Amino acid sequence: RHVAIVMDGNGRWATARGLPRTDGHRRGVEALVDVVHGALEIGLEHLTLYAFSTENWKRPADELQTLMYEIPQVVHRLVTEKVDVRVRWAGTPSRLPADVVERLLDAERETRDHTGLTLTMCVNYGGRAEITAAAAKLAQEAVAGRVDPGSLSEHAFARCLHVPELPDVDLLVRTGGDQRTSNFLPWQATYAELLFLDTPWPAVDRRTLWDAMEQYARRTRRYGSVARIPAQASPLSGRGAPTT
Ligand code: FPP
Repeated sequence: RHVAIVMDGNGRWATARGLPRTDGHRRGVEALVDVVHGALEIGLEHLTLYAFSTENWKRPADELQTLMYEIPQVVHRLVTEKVDVRVRWAGTPSRLPADVVERLLDAERETRDHTGLTLTMCVNYGGRAEITAAAAKLAQEAVAGRVDPGSLSEHAFARCLHVPELPDVDLLVRTGGDQRTSNFLPWQATYAELLFLDTPWPAVDRRTLWDAMEQYARRTRRYGSVARIPAQASPLSGRGAPTT
């Protein structure tokens, strides 16, 4: 239902070819568009992409300039392509150029009735910042007497996140060879299956997504419980047998 991807490896892909890192981001945009089409084709409900973190401001100025151009541009391209994609934005406006914020909000507005695929773009996103902002919002509600801190549920907390209706992540993929999640969706991905690919993002296309989803389908999720084999195959005839 929900695949989230850390689109990593653009810069290293370019450097390995003697190109400026910014060329890697431009090629990465083509990969992004192909993966979105692949997600639509396979009927995925939610695709969430990490495009820019709150830590990425530390990157060189020319790279920041390219990203602040390419990210809103590709969002606009998806909107004008008239594909059945609902765009959501997860992140904070602080430090983002006003036109980038405007583009993201416009895309959300223009696609809000689309039902095919929800594409959540994480732009100027940080997982801890998202959780901290939700906590601050709830604290204000509590001070105002609208929330009882003693009976706060996880569900009520999640309503204060950037995109409250974003479901739990089923599969979290990171391309580019590193094996960490880098402050990406800590609330939503607590039970996600993790898949780390050596492929740099510009070399990814829709087949990479489909292959990742196939790998996911072969995994067993237990959510803290014990896995059960299908009842009809169970030696305990109908009760299901716990595995290890
Ligand atoms: C996290 O690793 C990775 C990201 C936040 C993704 C960054 C991706 C881009 C800037 C490219 C955007 C893609 C397109 C197609 C425009 P990190 O490198 O921020 O953190 P780390 O130091 O923990 O690896």
